[in-house]
Amino acid sequence: MGTLTGVFVLFLTLLGVGRARYEPNWDSIDSRPLPEWFDQAKFGIFIHWGVFSVPSFGSEWFWWYWQGKNMTPYVDFMQKNYPPEFKYQDFAPQFTAEFFDAKQWTEIFASSGAKYIVLTTKHHEGFTLWGSKNSWNWNSVDVGPKRDLVDEVASALRAHSDLRLGLYHSLFEWFNPLFRQDAANVFTTNYFPTTKTLPELYELVLKYKPEVVWSDGNGNAPDKYWNSTGFLAWLYNDSPVRDTVVTNDRWGTGCICTHGGYYTCTDRYQPGHLLKHKWENCMTIDTKSWGYRRNAPLSDYLTIEQLVATLVETVSCGGNLLMNIGPTHDGRIVPIFEERLRQMGQWLKVNGGAIYNTTAWRAQKDNATANLWYTFRPQEKTIFAILLEWPDQGSVTLSEPVVTQGVTQVELVGHGSLQWEPAKPSGLNVLLPQLSFRQMPCQWAWTLKLTGAS
Ligand SMILES: *[C@@H]1O[C@H](CO)[C@@H](O)[C@H](O)[C@H]1NC(C)=O
Ligand SMILES: *[C@@H]1O[C@H](CO)[C@@H](O)[C@H](O)[C@H]1NC(C)=O
Ligand SMILES: *[C@@H]1O[C@H](CO)[C@@H](O)[C@H](O)[C@H]1NC(C)=O
Repeated sequence: MGTLTGVFVLFLTLLGVGRARYEPNWDSIDSRPLPEWFDQAKFGIFIHWGVFSVPSFGSEWFWWYWQGKNMTPYVDFMQKNYPPEFKYQDFAPQFTAEFFDAKQWTEIFASSGAKYIVLTTKHHEGFTLWGSKNSWNWNSVDVGPKRDLVDEVASALRAHSDLRLGLYHSLFEWFNPLFRQDAANVFTTNYFPTTKTLPELYELVLKYKPEVVWSDGNGNAPDKYWNSTGFLAWLYNDSPVRDTVVTNDRWGTGCICTHGGYYTCTDRYQPGHLLKHKWENCMTIDTKSWGYRRNAPLSDYLTIEQLVATLVETVSCGGNLLMNIGPTHDGRIVPIFEERLRQMGQWLKVNGGAIYNTTAWRAQKDNATANLWYTFRPQEKTIFAILLEWPDQGSVTLSEPVVTQGVTQVELVGHGSLQWEPAKPSGLNVLLPQLSFRQMPCQWAWTLKLTGAS
């Protein structure tokens, strides 16, 4: 390219000319390449926080289960503990957040090794964690904490970490009269999206500049009703985060696992095999709820072994893990969640090389040995084999790698190089060192790093 042409192209680039413009239709929206930071990040933290954190009973679907479906445990809970005239709205002043310290949260998140967080700015109950103009008297600045919680989280992340900000936002609201009116009209009217959902989405992006927009809750309405492609075209073309923002796939009936940015497909999605399209496994440490539950027994929380296994399997199969915690109404991350987050960070500190910035390898799991998953670093031609269990017999068979004597090297990450011998019919047997508990590089899953193999 001639110098003059180069200068001209640079000039056009600075002007934003020549940048791909996306049209408000799925063919165009789906053609956008996913910004690469997301695949490199691999691990994020999901945070479900809202008025549902006040009863902290059952789940974040409390209001719907109580008054939408009249489910017995919820009706009984309210009858036993609250006066008959108590409304769901009366929980909002008790959403106090007096112990909420965004800097402290950020320190815990950073210690977990996560690279992004996703905060519920508004769940299906409609209460916004920021001072939304479109959510009159049903937001955290007017009622409850009297604080802009989204702003506090966003500011602390930016000031104290290199974690990226993601914002969850529910398209629909169970009991919003405008939504119910549109639903009664079979979504031939769009009072609700034009006066509530869309103004909120634009406001969230312009104010807080999230790099993940995590949409949810289509209310059985099609994406045309939500004008999802119109919003996404703006987000990708003209928003302040157009170069780095990623989105998920929950933008209207039929969109999930089909349209948008990365796929979520179902909650706790774990396909067990490699997918062509980037995906995310959103799951929760409390297996029965996303919001905090005061009466959850220890057995409902996943162990760190289970969480590390979930991360490893997810990354092997090309996914990201979005692991959820539910803070309390007064703004605490209870010690069980804090411990799980810090444990994940301890594991990633040793084994992060096998997770961050990796890609899926040609094989995801080993056929000969159970609980052994692979990841790959193409730049360095390094294969990682992650053992979820320490073998009893002092050696482990990796049947997938193709090895060469005198060339292939094997290392136990955090320990050092290991002896190996060819295995039949394929692969290698790696001789594991006898290590005391304290000599182990980590406690929950172990990484073998292979170079000079393919
Ligand atoms: C849908 O979004 C597009 C692009 O932002 C906009 O031009 C259009 O007016 C929107 N339609 C409705 C009904 O809001
Ligand atoms: C991943 O790669 C990106 C881009 O090359 C780099 O900025 C980042 O530091 C890498 N992260 C890790 C954990 O290796
Ligand atoms: C392992 O099993 C998968 C699924 O059955 C198969 O596609 C693959 O070829 C097998 N790999 C080897 C090395 O046998």
